[in-house]
Amino acid sequence: MFEAMGGDTSGPEWRDACIAYFQRGLGAGQLAGVVVDAESGALAACGVIEFVDRIPSPRNPTGRWAYISTISTDPEHRRQGLATAVMEGLLHLAHARQLHVVELHATDEGRPLYERLGFRPRDGAWEMALRIVYPPP
Ligand SMILES: CC(C)(COP(=O)(O)OP(=O)(O)OC[C@H]1O[C@@H](n2cnc3c(N)ncnc32)[C@H](O)[C@@H]1OP(=O)(O)O)[C@@H](O)C(=O)NCCC(=O)NCCS
Repeated sequence: MFEAMGGDTSGPEWRDACIAYFQRGLGAGQLAGVVVDAESGALAACGVIEFVDRIPSPRNPTGRWAYISTISTDPEHRRQGLATAVMEGLLHLAHARQLHVVELHATDEGRPLYERLGFRPRDGAWEMALRIVYPPP
């Protein structure tokens, strides 16, 4: 998925940190994944949902919130409904926790899929980020 988004996936640091993050998060129930195995046993499609408690608000009175990411289907298994199935599995987990708000960031490729499932761009939503790059130790 990161490659499809134009990211440089070559370095080992992010992979190690990512594995540790998943081990912690899965163990603590703070995140869950849905995977589809190919017949060969390789990964065909996957997606992740992270559960976060945020400040309760009028829009989200419980403050319980989830973020879906890492929706990705291996190129040779695309257009067979696998990402849709992954999303439905993730949304089932959100419903089971009675979440009011589930968010994601869509690539152009993913947008039609999310729209079919009811996701809409938030009116007036804007996003800003500060990227801080530290010098090597
Ligand atoms: C976006 C992505 C996840 C979609 O995965 P996918 O498994 O192909 O998704 P689906 O099969 O559920 O749906 C994709 C399309 O196939 C169609 N489709 C589903 N089942 C089908 C079938 N049996 N036969 C033909 N078409 C089918 C869907 O209607 C959909 O059409 P549309 O998007 O043109 O309207 C995949 O292209 C991908 O990994 N892209 C790179 C990473 C990325 O951008 N991820 C999204 C991050 S937000």
